[in-house]
Amino acid sequence: MYHKISVQDMRTGMYVVNTGVSWLQHPYLYDAEGELTPQQLTDIRKSEYTEAYIDLLRCRPGSLPPELEAMIPTTVEEYPAGFLPPPPKVSIEQELPRARKVFQTSLNMAKNMMDGIRKGQFDMPSAEPLVENILESLDQNADALFSLCKLRQKDDYTYTHCVNVSVMSALFARGIGLPQGEIQSTGLGGLLHDVGKSLIPLNILNAPRRLNDQEMGIMKRHPLLGYDYLKKNAAIPDEVLQIAIEHHEQFCGGGYPKGLSGKNISVIGRIAAIVDVFDALSSKRVYKDLMPFSKALSILYSMRGKEFFPGMVERFIRLLGVYPLGSAVELEDGCKAVVSEANMAAPMRPRVLLVRDKAGKDMGRTPCDLSKDGQPGIVRSINPWELGADPAAVLGIP
Ligand SMILES: [Fe+2]
Repeated sequence: MYHKISVQDMRTGMYVVNTGVSWLQHPYLYDAEGELTPQQLTDIRKSEYTEAYIDLLRCRPGSLPPELEAMIPTTVEEYPAGFLPPPPKVSIEQELPRARKVFQTSLNMAKNMMDGIRKGQFDMPSAEPLVENILESLDQNADALFSLCKLRQKDDYTYTHCVNVSVMSALFARGIGLPQGEIQSTGLGGLLHDVGKSLIPLNILNAPRRLNDQEMGIMKRHPLLGYDYLKKNAAIPDEVLQIAIEHHEQFCGGGYPKGLSGKNISVIGRIAAIVDVFDALSSKRVYKDLMPFSKALSILYSMRGKEFFPGMVERFIRLLGVYPLGSAVELEDGCKAVVSEANMAAPMRPRVLLVRDKAGKDMGRTPCDLSKDGQPGIVRSINPWELGADPAAVLGIP
């Protein structure tokens, strides 16, 4: 998004573009493309240049005056704050059988893809219809696929992570009202975001320990490796490539591989970054146990405005609820319960199934809507061992 600016208004961090206009017709137009450094700015001011074109979308955050900042179009934080995704069309029980098939097919596809790339084979056509099925299932009842992704925790993380990031990125994109085509690309990008890991040596990728600096350097190449690999396939949309290369970038500029910051990171890149970390935190791994969802969300919340774009984490939390589906919780009256349905209007007051009373007596999964008058509030998240039951089994998730 280009904008003409006079030399006296130019600031360090603004991104100058060469628009290709003739030097003969515009001899005083500065057009050396790139981000302005303090030295360049000093040199330009001493020269005879009078103006330049800048690309508002590529300027560093803070380099634009408010009136130009306000001209930047449709970023996620400008989506209506009150936007809510459409309600489910069927119950979770009705959607679960189809969601289970979609999840299993996606998991097989992720496995074939990751293992195939390692062997030099890649089958892209099978991925797109799969993403269509994911979106269709989310439209019917998003809780069904979410619960399969996040409550089973039985399969290999390498592959479930691809499916989980695909499902939750599409869910997030849908939840903030992105157009259908971008939701589709976000889902596909989520599925393919880590393909570069297939090109990382297995002894580093699967090391059950902390990586040393050299190994970490190799590991951090995976966004670029994935981007290059996918780019060779002409059928891959640009948005999908963006997710592959941007999902480890950070709002503050401290990420990799490019150290992009602020609005230089695409909206879907920001979505994938948040979902990627949420899935990693809330997944069971060889070296760490399960973390309650609300704890993972509170860690993300503490990273807002630093690693993550301001406003984005808050939207993700609003979408999942402070206590997402499947969270084990303790209530004010001492009962222990499992969240069976998030409440976007009142995120602290979801529907639950009561599992145990204060004395530890079985309550037979009695449904309870905590948003109703007189119902107890949630005191804290608890671990499944405190609940004495598997939340997935309580919810009837196979
Ligand atoms: Fe990654």
